[in-house]
Amino acid sequence: MTQASAPGKIILFGEHAVVYGRPAIAVPLPSIRATVEVDASPPTEQDGILVQAPALSKTFMLEEISPQDPLGFAIRLTLETLQITRPPNLRIKIESEIPISAGLGSGAAVTVAIIRSLCRHFGRTLSDEKISELAYEVERLYHGTPSGVDNSVVTFEKPIYFRRGHPVERFSIAERFTLVLAHSGESTPTAEVVHSVRDAWQANRADYERKFDAIGRIVDLAYGALKRGDVALLGPLMDQNQMHLEALGVSCHALDTLIKRARAAGAAGAKLSGGGRGGFMLALVGDDQIEDVTATLQAEGASPVLHTTIR
Ligand code: PMV
Repeated sequence: MTQASAPGKIILFGEHAVVYGRPAIAVPLPSIRATVEVDASPPTEQDGILVQAPALSKTFMLEEISPQDPLGFAIRLTLETLQITRPPNLRIKIESEIPISAGLGSGAAVTVAIIRSLCRHFGRTLSDEKISELAYEVERLYHGTPSGVDNSVVTFEKPIYFRRGHPVERFSIAERFTLVLAHSGESTPTAEVVHSVRDAWQANRADYERKFDAIGRIVDLAYGALKRGDVALLGPLMDQNQMHLEALGVSCHALDTLIKRARAAGAAGAKLSGGGRGGFMLALVGDDQIEDVTATLQAEGASPVLHTTIR
């Protein structure tokens, strides 16, 4: 049996504007992971590749699943890349602790874990760049026009400064900080939100380009602050980024309320993360505020509410 795993992720700054060529910053969440196991199936089982994904309530034979299914697509694409034209009988078991459709990169993590576990099973290696490129192809099925930030951060498992069409910059965070992550209880597929931003951009390009530029400037300031260890600057930058995300129309009442409550409970800054209109929000907290901010967000109905140290 071979096994591989990949982390969840959060976008700290720059979502949506990143689709339009501006930079974004994302970090891995090493403690929340997707794991994939590959086994040779016992000879008594049906011929072919059996895929079991209990967290996604899916079990299927690869031969029978639609070409549009992202799990099936990821497996086929990997086998094709490894030039395994007649695969042996296999059982592929996919498990994930990452909440689905919540902006924590569950799709990209499952894909990267599938690619890595199959490589291991067949004793082959692919470079991180190649794995990220394959995962991008799968992300296109989930999202339509993804920027590439999710597959990059999940593959490299390092903080990244990402800009479409540029080499991915991996960097070190100079000073650790803590985030409380709270799920708003609502969720909208990222593709749908990205689509509505595109419609609005098409209707008013000059205005949206200015908004994307403003977000890009915040990302660059945050990049400097993270590399210098200037944690005090991060909170205000999160607040400013959130203001622009609201202006893009990608926040929602539930997220706005959690963000306001977190700030009132002592968070130094707060914003949504990922596609928006639901999913998770992030609040920057000092060690002394973790409990208060967590309790406040739970009382507001957020679930789950987690906290993580970014380093
Ligand atoms: O919802 P998530 O975590 O997959 O993040 C989407 C981020 C966007 O910038 C909105 C889209 C993209 O492809 O970068």
